[in-house]
Amino acid sequence: MTLFASTTRAIPHSRAAPRHLAIIMDGNGRWAKKRFLPRVAGHQQGVETVRAVVKACIERGIEYLTLFAFSSENWRRPAEEVGFLMNLFVAALQREVGRLHKNGVRLRVVGDLSAFEPRLIELIRRGESLTAGNDKLTLTIAANYGGRWDLMQAFNGLALAHPEKAGAYTEADLEPFLAMSYAPEPDLFIRTGGEQRISNFLLWQLAYCELFFTDTFWPDFDTAMLDTAIASFRRRERRFGRTSEQLLEPAMPALPTTPSETNA
Ligand code: IPE
Ligand code: IPE
Ligand code: MG
Repeated sequence: MTLFASTTRAIPHSRAAPRHLAIIMDGNGRWAKKRFLPRVAGHQQGVETVRAVVKACIERGIEYLTLFAFSSENWRRPAEEVGFLMNLFVAALQREVGRLHKNGVRLRVVGDLSAFEPRLIELIRRGESLTAGNDKLTLTIAANYGGRWDLMQAFNGLALAHPEKAGAYTEADLEPFLAMSYAPEPDLFIRTGGEQRISNFLLWQLAYCELFFTDTFWPDFDTAMLDTAIASFRRRERRFGRTSEQLLEPAMPALPTTPSETNA
């Protein structure tokens, strides 16, 4: 059983502000290149943006922030850049976990952690357990994450747990096995850096997510741009398969009636 309504099986309450924001932080390399700096300088600067965005999300009452930090395909990059990213991850955890904890942030890391060195895995586990009881914001870092990896590990987990049900699995059976079963599906997705693609991020969970793309490189992304994305989200009509006219009918089941919960 999952904790949260699925967008394909129930009509979610439409909210004025996103509850779960998922971001592909892209454009670090190009940000650096534009300044005649090594690509890794862009990654370093990107960490500063992460800090600012986490703070802004807390201030805006966003409950879940999910950041794509390293994809299962990013191992294809030059070894030097991969090594730098790993060290940056270690350094960021060492430096930031205490502050996150003080600010009431619960840290989670999703992805195939088995590929990481033990020192990094240990830091992740320590950060997760230290912050496990916090409830201001759940910050999820997707590291060595791939949407297909997630689906495959979930399918395999389900098949092992319930072999008797093979051939009759439902969406609801699968969802508890997904890496982010502790969070509702994202409402708003942002990709910086100009590309308009999903790059194997949250494939299952983005089914009905509102997508927002900006040319701004991640190190230049700021709270003004975040607010632009949220404003865009607010203007959208989330129909979840229904017609516009149906949204106006008060008798629709599961539709919220309080003004604060509607999209109007
Ligand atoms: C995103 O920035 C960070 C990671 C993928 C780790 P990029 O490094 O992809 O930057 P661009 O796309 O080359 O500019
Ligand atoms: C996606 O960015 C992954 C992360 C931001 C971690 P990439 O820059 O690797 O994406 P592609 O390969 O250009 O689609
Ligand atoms: Mg990129």
